[in-house]
Amino acid sequence: MTTSTTELREINVKIARAYDQVPYDPVIVPEIDAARVLGIAALYGAGPQTGSYDVLDLGCGTGVQLARVAPHNGGGRLVGTDLSQSACTFASERCAALGARARIVCSDFLDLDPAALGQFDLIYHVGVLYITPPEVQRRLLTLVAACLKPGGVAVLSYYYGTHALLLAGLRQTLRLAVPRDIPADEQVGRARAVLRDMARSLAQQGGERAMLSVLQHAGARADSIFYHELLGEHFHALSTAGLEDALGAHGVHFLNWVWPGPQGRPATARDRAFLADTLDYSGGGYHYTVFAKTDSARGPSPRENVLWESRLVREGRSVPAVFRDPSSGFSVNANVVTTAALEMLADGPRGWDTLAPAVAKDMSARIPPVTDALETLDEELLLLWQYGLLAPLWRR
Ligand SMILES: C[S@@+](CC[C@H](N)C(=O)[O-])C[C@H]1O[C@@H](n2cnc3c(N)ncnc32)[C@H](O)[C@@H]1O
Repeated sequence: MTTSTTELREINVKIARAYDQVPYDPVIVPEIDAARVLGIAALYGAGPQTGSYDVLDLGCGTGVQLARVAPHNGGGRLVGTDLSQSACTFASERCAALGARARIVCSDFLDLDPAALGQFDLIYHVGVLYITPPEVQRRLLTLVAACLKPGGVAVLSYYYGTHALLLAGLRQTLRLAVPRDIPADEQVGRARAVLRDMARSLAQQGGERAMLSVLQHAGARADSIFYHELLGEHFHALSTAGLEDALGAHGVHFLNWVWPGPQGRPATARDRAFLADTLDYSGGGYHYTVFAKTDSARGPSPRENVLWESRLVREGRSVPAVFRDPSSGFSVNANVVTTAALEMLADGPRGWDTLAPAVAKDMSARIPPVTDALETLDEELLLLWQYGLLAPLWRR
């Protein structure tokens, strides 16, 4: 079934009005701060090449992300767009002190002209894509691609995997079970009661474990998120491979999640995306992912803009050395090269430019000298990032 443009606009207005009525509580996620996102991008040879970079937030809500990036983008432009009038008012007030470099555009995504917006080094598109109609999603993806400079980086968030697919089905049931013409808080109350009944009856029947877990997670959401995601006009599970396909057609490719999964290092964006989807079928969830626009003029320059921040602490003095992440409890056995690097990183984040020569010097002083130190180190650090034990930070 196709939706006419008028119907589509009416749905968009309904979605935005829902955010006027029930403001969205922004979730602060340090992993999507510019230093981390651009650090990850730099590993793949993408990201801005100067300390001043322009930022666009498509669906900026109350402007929290723009305000977080403002002290770090070297005086570059900050543009936010949203259709919710109250979100735009909040965002404009929040960004007022930033002067002319910040601008909030109150508009339906369908009416945004990429040529008028210009191109950006970093685009945030968080909490939006999956609550919009498929026609709007397609428009959004072309906007992201058109508004990225070559080498520019986009952060997208979406749900995928077994849980998300079940959640999308659950939303359809809840929308039918709850009247829409009663106040939002009553809708949420009634939907929560339906969830509890479903969970009870499923448990009695020895129901599907994954579905029980979805019901539990759905019930644990804050009221505002529950309302927008489980009773809203749209909710879609979006696969990473599907996004890679759609954006890839415009030269924008999947780099990785901001929270790395143990994915190994598949060379192509397509392979990485399929691996991400495969991992998601073991449960899956909400992802913040990093995409970047190919810059054919640029060679890979991954390392020099990155500071490595280690979460690992050495345990005892055993050889090979054992390092543990105290927060996750995860531990790794490190070879001699990685051990030297991790001990240097224990004093604070360091760039490749000082780390690599220091490790090389240490290795050449060994008897016998370790000759392939830097080759091994490079791969090992990337692997440790893949396991979430090192955080790459962008340093300019
Ligand atoms: C969940 S909020 C996310 C806000 C912000 N990105 C954040 O993470 O806090 C989704 C936002 O998308 C906006 N939105 C939804 N459909 C839109 C459309 N068609 N045009 C413009 N904004 C839209 C809503 O008004 C809402 O502010």
